[in-house]
Amino acid sequence: MRKRLIAGNWKMNLHWNEAMSLVSEIVQNENQSDWSSVDVAVIPPFIYSRPAFEFLKNAGSNIILGSQNCASTENGAFTGEISASMIEQIGATMVLVGHSERRDYYNEDAAVLKEKISRVLEQNLTPIFCCGEHLKQRKSNSHESTIIDQLESVVFQFSGEDVSKMVIAYEPVWAIGKGETASPQQAQDMHAFIRSSFHKKYGSEIADNLRILYGGSMNPTNAAELLSQTDVDGGLIGGAALAADKFKAIIEA
Ligand code: 13P
Repeated sequence: MRKRLIAGNWKMNLHWNEAMSLVSEIVQNENQSDWSSVDVAVIPPFIYSRPAFEFLKNAGSNIILGSQNCASTENGAFTGEISASMIEQIGATMVLVGHSERRDYYNEDAAVLKEKISRVLEQNLTPIFCCGEHLKQRKSNSHESTIIDQLESVVFQFSGEDVSKMVIAYEPVWAIGKGETASPQQAQDMHAFIRSSFHKKYGSEIADNLRILYGGSMNPTNAAELLSQTDVDGGLIGGAALAADKFKAIIEA
């Protein structure tokens, strides 16, 4: 049985006061609800991570802290970078790797992403590996081969034991931040396809236990239908995670 995971990726948004208020409102909602059947994660910008963690800890919250990125290298002379061991020390337990914004704007390729996953696993953190096709790949019917390339060049380089510690997020790039989502059927088809490719490579135990999240304009209106699909095990939420009431509605969808 796969436990659903709803993770809010705040990206590079919110001022300090807004970020702290958002954490506090999310915890208030948690206290007033029963979220025990769902894992909930917040993934703020790095600079808000430690105070967010302290707030969550002091409040006795079960909300998981995640990181949007990490360095591909270990600690050392890499100005401006944040290492997986630093992320581990501030209390985060999940790290996004391979988000399309990192691939597209910062040229992160398979070799870099593979290193990042290695650093994350070395710290016993959970990588959330993001994959997804662009609109032109969808239109030319090469979305499945795009995803296979992204998986083969990074995730499938790891052992089954490593892969069993990962979460996959399917985020069609054409649906991110656009207000346009994949239809529930499109999401289910891709998630089933992704799961079957893990099945072929690693067998049924790993494939059946793998959590595959959907990301791309998930909101309170479309969440229930997307999340009711057999192979959709949760959501990676951008815009709608910046408002506590919307995030709550998705968690409870
Ligand atoms: P939106 O929910 O804003 O489309 O963002 C999705 C996303 O990229 C989450 O990582």
